[in-house]
Amino acid sequence: MSDGNGVRPIDDDDLDALSGAGRVVPSGPGPKGEPDLSTRYLGLTLRSPVVASASPLTGDLPSLRALDAAGVGAVVLPSLFEEQLEHEIAEVERYLGLSADINPEATYGYAPVLDGYNQGSVRYLRLIREAKAAVKVPVIASLNGATRGGWTEYARMLADAGADAIELNVYQVAADPGRTARETEKETLDVVDAVTSACEVPVAVKLSPYWSALAHLATQLVDAGASGLVLFNRFYQPDIDLETLSVGPRLVLSTSDELRLPLRWMALLHGRVDASLAATTGIHTPVDVTKALLAGANVAMTTSALLRHGPDHAGTLVTGLASWMAEREYASVEQMTGSVSQVNVADPAAFERANYLETLTRYASTFLT
Ligand SMILES: Cc1cc2nc3c(=O)[nH]c(=O)nc-3n(C[C@H](O)[C@H](O)[C@H](O)COP(=O)(O)O)c2cc1C
Repeated sequence: MSDGNGVRPIDDDDLDALSGAGRVVPSGPGPKGEPDLSTRYLGLTLRSPVVASASPLTGDLPSLRALDAAGVGAVVLPSLFEEQLEHEIAEVERYLGLSADINPEATYGYAPVLDGYNQGSVRYLRLIREAKAAVKVPVIASLNGATRGGWTEYARMLADAGADAIELNVYQVAADPGRTARETEKETLDVVDAVTSACEVPVAVKLSPYWSALAHLATQLVDAGASGLVLFNRFYQPDIDLETLSVGPRLVLSTSDELRLPLRWMALLHGRVDASLAATTGIHTPVDVTKALLAGANVAMTTSALLRHGPDHAGTLVTGLASWMAEREYASVEQMTGSVSQVNVADPAAFERANYLETLTRYASTFLT
């Protein structure tokens, strides 16, 4: 079977048959007979490659504790949004403008205590501190936006509050016909450059798949200072309500089928960019985690499955991966990472355009018989 894009995905038979030219041959489990699940991500050593990605679950302390107990390697907090920050900045300016009229000290740098206007970032900084106290694993803070704005300052504040790393979620829709791909990319690269220059902690960039030359952009992001790439964010596409003729958001959780797209890009980028890779979208089962790592991911991030089954499901993913590795005599996650990436498979074209015709022909013959 193949996806509609002509790539034959790694299937369960491949996982069974994993051995052969170009691949890392399993060397057996560690001294205690258990595979080493630790992985390197953004320069951090994580105890396992299963990471809870940003969602309301990771903004809730009891859920964070449950994820920690279940064996996740790290947690990504829900994002602080650019819109929240812009609102705050506007409020500060408005407040200071008003103060200047009524308070002569304002002109000389008088800074009143501003309660109420900045709950967004204040609450977020508190969440970072509480999360750090609640879990043993690294806590990754997340900023969501598209433009340069005040990100640099905020990123520094998140790091100062104790975040072990920062994930920049570049969530934008290139809808302006007057704007080129180059301009859109440059804006993102400038943000990454500014944030990574200002922050001591490692920075990962979470992208959507909607970029015209993703492999090139990936290398440029790394040149701009990104330590990791998180592929891919999942846009929540708007829907039309036929009753009210209104347009609104419709959040649908993912399924394992959606892993194919990040899987392909993990495989294409592994060994080609000098950065950690995180697979996100469609990680629901231990098989999904295993495939993501084999394709080249350093970590497999999950949200929908945790929202559907609860934080304990992270434990199912971790133990399922460990069992698979023990059965196949993989000693470590490091050893299996990327062993079915494009640079390591017998048929590298399988991750690109090849198989397209074969796939369609095969489907047509099944369909017509
Ligand atoms: C309810 C919900 C809230 C989310 N909030 C954020 C967020 O604040 N920041 C972010 O970068 N991603 C956010 N995401 C995206 C997830 O982190 C994840 O990348 C996406 O859901 C794809 O992974 P999945 O297939 O495991 O769900 C959210 C997803 C859901 C379902």
